[in-house]
Amino acid sequence: MKAVVLVGGEGTRLRPLTETVPKPLLPILNRPFLHRVLDHLAQHGVHEVITSSSYLERSFAAFIAERHGDPRITWITEREPLGTGGAIVNALPRVDGTFLVLNGDILTDLELTELVRFHERQGAVATIALHRVEDARPFGLVAADAQGRVLEFREKPGEPIPGDINAGTYVLEPEAFEGWEPGRAISIEREIFPALIDRGAPVYSFPSGAYWIDLGTPQNYLRAHFDVLEGKLSGMQVPAPYRAQTAVVDLEARLGRWVVLGEHAVVRAGAEIEDSVLLDGVTVEEGARVGESIVGPGAVIGSGATVVGAVLAEGARVDGTAQFDADRISAGGTAPPKPD
Ligand code: GDD
Ligand code: MG
Repeated sequence: MKAVVLVGGEGTRLRPLTETVPKPLLPILNRPFLHRVLDHLAQHGVHEVITSSSYLERSFAAFIAERHGDPRITWITEREPLGTGGAIVNALPRVDGTFLVLNGDILTDLELTELVRFHERQGAVATIALHRVEDARPFGLVAADAQGRVLEFREKPGEPIPGDINAGTYVLEPEAFEGWEPGRAISIEREIFPALIDRGAPVYSFPSGAYWIDLGTPQNYLRAHFDVLEGKLSGMQVPAPYRAQTAVVDLEARLGRWVVLGEHAVVRAGAEIEDSVLLDGVTVEEGARVGESIVGPGAVIGSGATVVGAVLAEGARVDGTAQFDADRISAGGTAPPKPD
């Protein structure tokens, strides 16, 4: 079976980090996340993946050139963003029968093989994996009957209601896309699923209690790391804090338990780091403090500076003692100090 992996979003909620690194290539424990998605597919017998992105296409080309082994990656050109549905329609000439589709920003250990079996047993044209949440607003809310047949799909509902949401993993039949022309922007969530349900096509849902998180916000990107450090994801057991072998930490620096240090990161004497992920090549100078932040590759936190609740771009530099609460700091740019 083949799979289409959706990686073409701009990752706006993770800016400015995603201005230079596409969201699916941000690391999880120092390894581009997309490796994990591809490995997960290979474990479930997927030997070919079709994927595309008009955003930062070159970064993906470099990733593909470096990756070897299963599954084989077929890259297709998406000149302009075609949306989730349009990207799948674009990939259809490369699939052969039933196929999987994965959002490229979901960390999960979902049983894909079971999902496919369920889809086949139901004779569905589309099967949507579900995840239970307390607040469905950032997601697609799915209502189904007792047999799992989907009755309604509501993308980004306005109200904070608990419910089963679209987990961003589907099994699909090519016939689900009949009538949708290639080359135009289409949303599978807002257009294709509702149209299938309206015409009475067999769309099913598959509840799962698997670990699941969408990495698309700073809070979730950090949370995913903390969960992995706590051993919540099967097959990913690592020490906490987690330091790349090439990271250098002064004996008089302090690292909290929920900290990840990328390759060649340097943490100098008196620095304190807590609840944060520092990507490759980050330097934290003497006495600086970093908390609840994501620090982009090569960024420098100057001596005595404090960075809290921030997302720092690749190559950013922060000096002084300003507090960057919930701020986004671009390369070269410095966020204004918080008013007292
Ligand atoms: N190729 C391509 N082209 N991929 C795209 C495009 C595009 O134009 N737009 C978005 N994508 C990819 C993103 O890279 C991401 O992997 C996936 O499609 C979903 O886009 P997000 O921007 O992350 O959407 P979301 O998180 O707001 O909502 C989606 O995921 C939720 C689960 O996390 C929806 O599918 C929701 O229904 C779902 O609940
Ligand atoms: Mg997402």
